[in-house]
Amino acid sequence: MINLFDQHVLGGTLSLKNRIVMAPMTRTRTSDGDIPNSLMATYYGQRAGAGLIVAEATDVAPSSKGYAMTPGIYTEAQRQGWRLVTDEVHRRGGTIFLQIWHVGRMAHQSMMPNGEAPWGVTEERAQHSDVFAHGPDGKLSFIRAGAPRRLETEEVSALAGTFAQAFANARHAGFDGVEIHAANGYLFDQFMNSILNTRGDRYGGGSAEDRARFLLEVVDAAVREFGPGRVGVRLAPFGTFNSMPADPKTEETLLYVAGELGRRGAAYMHLVYELMPSGNMESAEFRQQHVDHAVLARVRATFPGAIIWCGGFSSRASAEAALDTKLVDLIAFGRPYIGNPDLAERLKHGWPLADADRATYYTRRGEAGYTDFAPYPADGAERAAA
Ligand code: PHB
Repeated sequence: MINLFDQHVLGGTLSLKNRIVMAPMTRTRTSDGDIPNSLMATYYGQRAGAGLIVAEATDVAPSSKGYAMTPGIYTEAQRQGWRLVTDEVHRRGGTIFLQIWHVGRMAHQSMMPNGEAPWGVTEERAQHSDVFAHGPDGKLSFIRAGAPRRLETEEVSALAGTFAQAFANARHAGFDGVEIHAANGYLFDQFMNSILNTRGDRYGGGSAEDRARFLLEVVDAAVREFGPGRVGVRLAPFGTFNSMPADPKTEETLLYVAGELGRRGAAYMHLVYELMPSGNMESAEFRQQHVDHAVLARVRATFPGAIIWCGGFSSRASAEAALDTKLVDLIAFGRPYIGNPDLAERLKHGWPLADADRATYYTRRGEAGYTDFAPYPADGAERAAA
């Protein structure tokens, strides 16, 4: 039996106090300018009991803005805002990575710099997927992703350089490492999909090497900044979220990337373990389904670093059953972390979990539904002092 509360040494240097990861989650509490703030520092600090926090998806550049009010890491003010967060997490004994992304075609011209088209691997639009942007009435709402523009070859290389700058900013902001968001139909995933990526250049869809080239150039930049043991990559093999076409080459690409990340000594692969329905979680057709364990065993055999699974975990028993497969080292919890800042303690002691109200997931209402969840038990004398 592997214990969820055993320590884990990540990337050869980082000692995590348990095998619980707080999954990255958009919460839209930034200040104007997509700047992290002291409210966010409180939120992450409250959750420092996780072995590892992966902070929410953060824009590498203004062209990455697919959802209003997600934070950035490309201005000095954003870097200083993130410093509040990392200082607070470290003060409370936590470890924190920053998830950095470019949304690619999952954007809308209403939020792009100068109203330009979203950046795409091709001109193929995400026909059935929404972004959180300004509708025709100027109000923020979920609207169809815009028609993208295919990036030129040199623009892709230049974007790798933009990521390098963001990694430097993240290190100066005090992060312990970075996670590159290559999952869920965002830009790296768009490049890795052999059906969507019909390019003919060196970033084209014809071979695994070309499909993964952009991601691996960015991984190399992250490794140069942080060292390999502080770089993770999030992937969602077989995911169809954000209009990703089913891809017969998924496993080939996945194993190629696993091998290359291993050669580079990357700290972890963070796999979206639950196959998300293309509709929403509340829909009748939703059935919990996981990535095939035979595939996950091949990833395990190929990649020597740590593996994280995320998706659908909400109890100690389900997490430890996963760890017992020996295919995974760390378990990420997303939604349970919203209402349970002390999730690790609750799981450890078998205390009940609080539910959060979905209406407060993505609001500007500050602390409501964000930092106002009490640790368990709310009236415990010793905990009140915490
Ligand atoms: C995702 O990873 O699918 C994701 C990330 C951030 C969002 C929405 C979706 O705001």
